[in-house]
Amino acid sequence: MKISQRAQAIAPFLAMEFGKRAAELEAAGHRVIRLNLGEPDFGAPPAVRSELQRIAADTPMPYTGALGLPALREAIAGFYQQAHGLSLNPERVVVTAGASAALLLLTAALVDPGDEVLVGDPSYPCNRQFLSGFGANVRLVPTDARSRFQLDLAAVQCHWSARTRGLMIATPSNPTGTSVPPDELAAICHWARAQGAWRIIDEIYLNLSDADATGRPAPTILAADPGACVINSFSKYFGMTGWRLGWAVVPDELVPAMERLAQNYYICAATPAQMAALACFTPESLAECEARKQEFGARRALVLQGLADVGLQVPVPPDGAFYVYIDVRSTGLDAMAFCERALQEAHVALTPGYDFGVCGGAHHVRLSYAASRADLQEGIARLAGFLKTLA
Ligand SMILES: Cc1ncc(COP(=O)(O)O)c(C=O)c1O
Repeated sequence: MKISQRAQAIAPFLAMEFGKRAAELEAAGHRVIRLNLGEPDFGAPPAVRSELQRIAADTPMPYTGALGLPALREAIAGFYQQAHGLSLNPERVVVTAGASAALLLLTAALVDPGDEVLVGDPSYPCNRQFLSGFGANVRLVPTDARSRFQLDLAAVQCHWSARTRGLMIATPSNPTGTSVPPDELAAICHWARAQGAWRIIDEIYLNLSDADATGRPAPTILAADPGACVINSFSKYFGMTGWRLGWAVVPDELVPAMERLAQNYYICAATPAQMAALACFTPESLAECEARKQEFGARRALVLQGLADVGLQVPVPPDGAFYVYIDVRSTGLDAMAFCERALQEAHVALTPGYDFGVCGGAHHVRLSYAASRADLQEGIARLAGFLKTLA
């Protein structure tokens, strides 16, 4: 069988490859501490699980419209009002099968072969795979600790060319948990818009961002740039990774294209997930998610202290999400060797920086602190033992 060049060219998502290897070790009877995936251990809020049980018995679960259940689109628009004081027309909300499908539809809707798109390095690998899959020429813009591993306006301007058609930014970022400051992001988007370029802003971790110095929550880019295309998800803040539910907020003119693409690509997001997700927006569920966010703060402190104690350096502490990006140069191992040996010898699963870009990927490792405190403590203790064997 002839496999397409596209499929042959796509690199494996190492975070998941290490997950597969962790599962093999577990099947062989080992207890593995899994810090490789960005998957909150809490699961869906209790009200969402009860709702799924309630509707499971006697609801036929037909397809919904391709843009999603109207009630869910309204609830998501209401969430922007409640969390950001932003009035949003629900018609602009497209419910998708995870943020991943939102990215699929947006790249299909916006990218033509040969278009150049700017993306920061490091960044979440799948986003750029969608771009390449639709023929974009992805221009990775190197970043470092000085810009908190994020794009700034100067870097965007410096890498812009006559062929640049858009940019994609995730803030807070995966793998670093660091954000583009809101004013800087607004400046980048305004500048790109002035060049006639589209902006896809991946806000999947926005509701897991630290508040600013005055206690105000991190704003959505939609407040400063209503014409940006925004992506979000039920996976992270609501802890619903396996439910495969997310959304995009797009300009009015893009909605019909998104609808046609969704109709053809996957018809609709899963109906049971959409119905049960309505229970995410009750005061109890939102209070539960806020409490979990506080817990992530405590886990972050525990991890940063633990890594410092064992001599592993985190060049930039995160301000959101649940990742730390560790510089492993002091160990003498490159990122792949570090992760392979940590898994084999200490049974701790991590993700090599190679997943996230070419600049610095070889000497960084991502640790996800979406695991329980007990697992984080155990994982760091095991890493301490592993590091001793290197010395
Ligand atoms: C930055 C970023 N965007 C998108 C996704 C995809 O998320 P989903 O589970 O909603 O498809 C992830 C998943 O980890 C992510 O980190």
